[in-house]
Amino acid sequence: KESRAMKFQRQHMDPDGPSNNSNYCNQMMRRRLMTEGRCKPVNTFVHEPLVDVQAVCLQGNITCKNGQPNCHKSSSSMKITDCRVTSGSKYPNCDYRTSQKKRHIIVACEGNPYVPVHFDASV
Ligand code: A3P
Repeated sequence: KESRAMKFQRQHMDPDGPSNNSNYCNQMMRRRLMTEGRCKPVNTFVHEPLVDVQAVCLQGNITCKNGQPNCHKSSSSMKITDCRVTSGSKYPNCDYRTSQKKRHIIVACEGNPYVPVHFDASV
């Protein structure tokens, strides 16, 4: 079974991206299996080395959106792409808007080793 840490990498890590095109989210949301059963409405990809994203678990500790205490905010801003399903999108034809940004990321971390398992927000 896929671990929560591996699921985070599948859903949120694209260190070598983004290919600079407006179809990025349409392609990546599908390739990373987030359009199976439904179109996942919102998802962020991070374009930084995995070690740098894992290191966020050692950076500033904050409360997550769900009230859990295990979120961490990156001390540096990172290259990200936000994918948001369009209003006209109809499953199984998942259609996304692609927006590239540089933001501080907030991830939830768990386990030993203490690694990212959820992408909470960017600020
Ligand atoms: P599921 O995978 O069971 O849906 P995301 O896709 O947003 O990165 O989230 C991955 C999983 O982490 C989601 O669960 C989500 O509900 C869960 N999650 C949300 N807040 C969390 C937290 N503070 N700590 C650990 N997991 C959290």
